[in-house]
Amino acid sequence: MNKQPRFSDLRNRWEERANSSGNAKVGVLYRNLPDSLNEYVHRFHTDQVSRNFLARLPHGARVLDLGCGYGRIGETVTRARPNIELVGADFAFPYCELYRQALGARTICCEAAALPFAPGSFDGIIAITVLMYLGPEQRSKAIGELLGLLRPNGLALLIDPSQEVLNLMSHLRPGSVRSTTGGAGFSAAEYRRIGETGGIAIAGYGGIPTFTLSLPLLLALNCTPRLQRALLRLLEPLDTRLRRFWKFSLQRWMLLRRENT
Ligand SMILES: C[S@@+](CC[C@H](N)C(=O)[O-])C[C@H]1O[C@@H](n2cnc3c(N)ncnc32)[C@H](O)[C@@H]1O
Repeated sequence: MNKQPRFSDLRNRWEERANSSGNAKVGVLYRNLPDSLNEYVHRFHTDQVSRNFLARLPHGARVLDLGCGYGRIGETVTRARPNIELVGADFAFPYCELYRQALGARTICCEAAALPFAPGSFDGIIAITVLMYLGPEQRSKAIGELLGLLRPNGLALLIDPSQEVLNLMSHLRPGSVRSTTGGAGFSAAEYRRIGETGGIAIAGYGGIPTFTLSLPLLLALNCTPRLQRALLRLLEPLDTRLRRFWKFSLQRWMLLRRENT
């Protein structure tokens, strides 16, 4: 089991990572995956943002991009929906600076468990691979407060790694050390419970199960890029359809809606 790093260590590690990677995707995706496979994960994220989240938000919506990084996801939002008011929040100062410069959006350097916003401030929240860094003792309170920032009918799109798959990987590679910035993941049951928070409903969910199961083959095909690309093209539509296998997915998404009560 990965020991949870102290908050200040985690923040320092993210600042180092931001300083060394700048606005390279690998800074906010998997450092040990080839670019071609990180590109698949990137498309998985941006597809959920465009198809499942942005398409349902009204004109002029106010959206919080939590754990915004340098703006990989923010770019997708501003390109597709320039009429959205985007607010970035991240505890790594260099990433906040990059986000502000790239997108011209209001950006706040703060901790996800102590957000300086009033309840009901946002029509939408995007939290892509960030809630996984909250310690087990903070998670439920911090996520409850985060969802409290949504207005009635507001939407939150969450994407996080699966704890089951991370545990399986550590069994398959005993002795491997998970990096501090690797995060802890959520079990499927814990993730589903987030959608059972009072006043919240699950509006959609899914993952990348066929990509996950094919990872050993995809890695082996890294020296034959044409074959790897062909396999990735086959997997994409399957991953979109096979959402009930989300338990076996390296990462999962969940769309939540605040009920109009
Ligand atoms: C894996 S990166 C994802 C960045 C961005 N969401 C994306 O998908 O491109 C995680 C981001 O969350 C930020 N982060 C991690 N823990 C945080 C916390 N407790 N409070 C605020 N930001 C945090 C990191 O600085 C980093 O920018």
